[in-house]
Amino acid sequence: MADRVYVFDTTLRDGEQSPGVSLNVQEKLEIGRALVDLGVDIIEAGFPISSPGDFQSVNTLAKELKGVTICGLTRAVAKDIEVAAEALKPAERPRIHTGLGVSDIHLEKKLRMTREQALEAGVAAVKLARQFTDDVEYYMEDSGRADPEYVYRVAEAVIAAGATVLNVPDTTGYKYPDEYRDLHRGILENVPNAHKAILSCHCHNDLGMATANTLAGVLGGARQVEVTINGIGERAGNTALEEVVTAIKIREDYFKVYTNIKHEKLLQVSKLVSQLTGMVVQRNKAVVGANAYAHSSGIHQDGVLKDRSTYEIIPPEMVGAERSEIILTARSGRHGLRHQLMEMGFSFPEDRFERIYEEFLKVADTKKQVSREDLAELVNNVK
Ligand code: KIV
Ligand code: ZN
Repeated sequence: MADRVYVFDTTLRDGEQSPGVSLNVQEKLEIGRALVDLGVDIIEAGFPISSPGDFQSVNTLAKELKGVTICGLTRAVAKDIEVAAEALKPAERPRIHTGLGVSDIHLEKKLRMTREQALEAGVAAVKLARQFTDDVEYYMEDSGRADPEYVYRVAEAVIAAGATVLNVPDTTGYKYPDEYRDLHRGILENVPNAHKAILSCHCHNDLGMATANTLAGVLGGARQVEVTINGIGERAGNTALEEVVTAIKIREDYFKVYTNIKHEKLLQVSKLVSQLTGMVVQRNKAVVGANAYAHSSGIHQDGVLKDRSTYEIIPPEMVGAERSEIILTARSGRHGLRHQLMEMGFSFPEDRFERIYEEFLKVADTKKQVSREDLAELVNNVK
């Protein structure tokens, strides 16, 4: 029996930290409802102590959303934890997400704490959070650049203090997939009580490896993935939810795990998040980009029209996209053109079709894309 991987969505917390993005409570609620429909397991709704607006968002989502865990972020600071607990009070399933840096860079340059001081503060934070909820996640910030021996010590101590989920963030997107997988493996092999907590992947995309790293973490034994819709987030963003869950589904044979995501809702949620955040999804974005199921070269069109599996590994309807699109450009061939003409209700004898094709190539050379309107005009002009 394959293992389940829990999907922790942080679009409303880390995603909202994207420069230029700001969501009000109503918008967060709308996205929150869409995430519940999508089947995510945990929604990180905000950082309650950071502003009254964030407190209200976490509190409103905790009241309104059922059948999902609602999580609030804190630093390893008593006041943060108390405020988060207050915001999360109405939640059916509240989770407090607390933590502290573990890399020497963060300890020395940002926190100005010794390893011992940070360890003690982390343990105290978990113990306090456990007084409010039995679901406490601990993040070891900048694990990606930390000394693994110290990561193991912190992991053991916070799990002993009551952390039920252990987050291993590659905060700066520094790691390479093999290394990130080995970090998870190392925790499972070297931390005696590691089996008492769920390990979680939290990756950033600074080197374009967030999805690969998250999947590598799953191969290393993590069973929670922290992701955002469309990969929005700090700097180059977080791991994209749609990429990870689709990879897990399409390569079930390889990963041997599953999620409870309703894949057919992916495109709809992606569009909603793009519209409310103003973050445009690049056309060639994996899984949900406008070009993800579009074919423009003659060789590819010929293959796809004969059998989609020649060039498509994701059936478009699986993610809620209508169907593969044939885009007519100067690289298109006869098969693509004939298909498009048929879709428009035209069928021509071979000699006229050849004349239309020659004319089509001339028009295509002057335009990026030949539209249906262009084709209709062309057909009219070539007798
Ligand atoms: O990237 C990170 O380390 C974080 C933590 C606060 C979980 O977002
Ligand atoms: Zn992050």
